[in-house]
Amino acid sequence: MPDPVLLFHLSDIHFGVEDVGALDWVRREIDRLRPDAVAITGDLTMRARHREFAAAEKWIHGLDVPVTVEPGNHDLPNYYLPSRYLRPFGRFNAFREVVERRLEFADIALVPLNTNVSAQPRLNWSKGWVTSRALADCLAQIDALPPGTHALVTAHHPLREAGTRGTALTRGGTKALAELAKRNVLAVLTGHVHDAFDIMEPTANGLVRMIGAGTLSHRLRTTPPSFNELHWDGRELTVTVRNLEGRSTPEMMIHDVPEDATPPADGEDSGNKAADPQLRAP
Ligand SMILES: [Fe+2]
Ligand SMILES: [Fe+2]
Repeated sequence: MPDPVLLFHLSDIHFGVEDVGALDWVRREIDRLRPDAVAITGDLTMRARHREFAAAEKWIHGLDVPVTVEPGNHDLPNYYLPSRYLRPFGRFNAFREVVERRLEFADIALVPLNTNVSAQPRLNWSKGWVTSRALADCLAQIDALPPGTHALVTAHHPLREAGTRGTALTRGGTKALAELAKRNVLAVLTGHVHDAFDIMEPTANGLVRMIGAGTLSHRLRTTPPSFNELHWDGRELTVTVRNLEGRSTPEMMIHDVPEDATPPADGEDSGNKAADPQLRAP
């Protein structure tokens, strides 16, 4: 029997409005429990600002365990449209090596699935979209794993609604789930809705487990800051939602973040502020 695997599933840290106390607590838990890997399922930043990415880089590089990061809708440049279209993940440059990184262990692997697009034919661009190319990339990686390997797919947007207050409305999600159901997929790990969940989702090809992690930012929805601990013992995947204790959720709740009046650094936020389509949802 392979060694058990412990994974920390974090999401929606939103550097810029991060909960420093919650992050310190997670960091202490990482140091104490030494997970085999940390998977961060998107919305690393609040507004994809350079200073937010710098803070994210510092925190991630301070972790002494393997990390994989899936971008979220907040991580695409929002106000400088050329960057958004030409290099949507360009601001991850300083820690590019962890972005959409596949991590493999003895009999389990973390496999990325991108659910972000630069533009959408609907008003709210914060929602998810699994393009044919993104799905093909993910499936190819799963199909190339050694025989018998179980996949944990990491994505930002839940592929179908999970009953949370926040929504993902992911286009292409139903098809993606049906394709994943044909394969040796243990679960799809996501964020975006800022509340944790663990459900079995029916598809045309069988059930797929969908696991969501909460947020480590001040953008709380219905639950305190949290992350998920995933234990794989070679037969069963167990999820423990680790809530930060001692926080009163309602009084911490922020439904939207006020515009930061600080002048943007090196012109990063100049341009199309009116669009701001990413900030309408988690
Ligand atoms: Fe999001
Ligand atoms: Fe978020």
